[in-house]
Amino acid sequence: MDFSTKKAQPETVKTACVVVPAFRNGKLSEAAKRLDRHTRGQLTRALKNSEFNGAPGTTLMLFDVTGIDAPRVLVIGAGKNGELDVADFRKAIQGVLRRLCNAGIGDATLFVSEIKVSDRDEQWLATQIATLGIEAAYRFEVMKSEADKNKSKPLRRLILGTGSTPHRRQQAALARGRAIGQGLNLARDLGNLPPNVCTPDYLARRAREMGRLNRLRVNVLDVADMEKLKMGALLAVARGSRQPAKLISIEHRGGPAKQKPVVLVGKGVTFDTGGISLKPSGEMDEMKYDMSGAGSVFGTMYAVSAMKLPLNVIGLIPATENMPDGQATRPGDIVTSMSRQTIEILNTDAEGRLILCDALTYAERYDPAAVIDIATLTGACVIALGKVATGLFSPDDKLAEEILDAGENTWDRAWRMPVWDDYQEQLKSNFADVANIGGRPAGSVTAACFLARFAKKFRWAHLDIAGTAWKSGKDKGSTGRPVPLLTQFLMNRAGW
Ligand code: BES
Ligand code: MN
Ligand code: ZN
Repeated sequence: MDFSTKKAQPETVKTACVVVPAFRNGKLSEAAKRLDRHTRGQLTRALKNSEFNGAPGTTLMLFDVTGIDAPRVLVIGAGKNGELDVADFRKAIQGVLRRLCNAGIGDATLFVSEIKVSDRDEQWLATQIATLGIEAAYRFEVMKSEADKNKSKPLRRLILGTGSTPHRRQQAALARGRAIGQGLNLARDLGNLPPNVCTPDYLARRAREMGRLNRLRVNVLDVADMEKLKMGALLAVARGSRQPAKLISIEHRGGPAKQKPVVLVGKGVTFDTGGISLKPSGEMDEMKYDMSGAGSVFGTMYAVSAMKLPLNVIGLIPATENMPDGQATRPGDIVTSMSRQTIEILNTDAEGRLILCDALTYAERYDPAAVIDIATLTGACVIALGKVATGLFSPDDKLAEEILDAGENTWDRAWRMPVWDDYQEQLKSNFADVANIGGRPAGSVTAACFLARFAKKFRWAHLDIAGTAWKSGKDKGSTGRPVPLLTQFLMNRAGW
């Protein structure tokens, strides 16, 4: 989909659909008033005879309007007077996009400059519109047969219409929003792919392909390499699977050669059965999303390379399945991690932290400016924060603040939880340096505290996306979160 800005008037713009705001009580925006004048009051009449009330998210489509050049007018609800908060603004734009996509309209021109969001500038609005546009046009149909594919014409082009010459910064803001949206959709695609397709090897191939297309340096370590590195924890998870594990690195060197990189580590469990500590079978299919952390790293690496962000960023993805098998790790097994700490594996379903701890130790070699790991790590995080906020864990106030800010900016929000040493008590093992589970209380915190033991040599934060990475129920599917948060975090770091 492409995005552009254009100097135009709503009544004469050549477009399949012209979009204008209206407010509560049937009040028209200036752009809508112009259309109303040129159509001898058709908008006013249509609004009067409809249930449209100006609430954000509601729309009214008019066909066959005479007196103007566009064949369709879409009126969008913009609240009392067009001053919206972020949530309502997103609702309003999503309402428009849903309508455009469902109606199979190929291109639309939006005259929405009368919509304001407090504390956000025009560029922010443009970036949001582009990301939401790409997100709304998403379909996951690669696994459907031809007959079952949605054949409606896709939305191809969104234009921001303005009365005066548009600023070049608007175009740049749209391009960034587009890159974020595409990164988001890449993460969604990887999450939605079935676990028989999206294996560790598949992820490695996709990384190599992305490397070729986007000039990223990609490297893949296989099991023998990981054995040499003594990644005993990661390999303990991989043992039960016929699919060989991979450790994938993706490097975007956009900054000066000497600049320390930000390292993003994404949990890439392509299917989590629980291993010998087998999960109950209900909804086990959802454990294909257990590589969503990895997916978000793919998406973010895509976005930063597409926008040529002047920053060094490295994506690191430990990828494996977690399967039960005669060779699988048993509850009670003690393994030695790459950091040399020994771990008593009391529950093989707490596998995410086992693959991440070795990846974190591996990250030391990049001398990172900061490391953020992203993982669908605990069911407890879903209980604590639901599907709204990502769990943020970091002993570093400054880094935590940066991450919270980026989430607030993009509306891909996180909420901070403690990683106090007091919780380390729960991870004590009678037989090894540490146990891999800490009991039911504060399950997402003890998981983070486990990781903290392997993240002492750099600034570090952990994002638990078990709740936010996908939706269940009838709209089941990957959300692509937290690609917007991560990309914005990196953009802020680059001074953008
Ligand atoms: N991938 C799961 C976490 C998860 C659970 C994500 C539900 C999304 C929804 C993780 O590997 C896991 O199984 N965690 C266990 C940890 C426990 C054994 C300490 C959990 O949360 O139950
Ligand atoms: Mn698990
Ligand atoms: Zn898992």
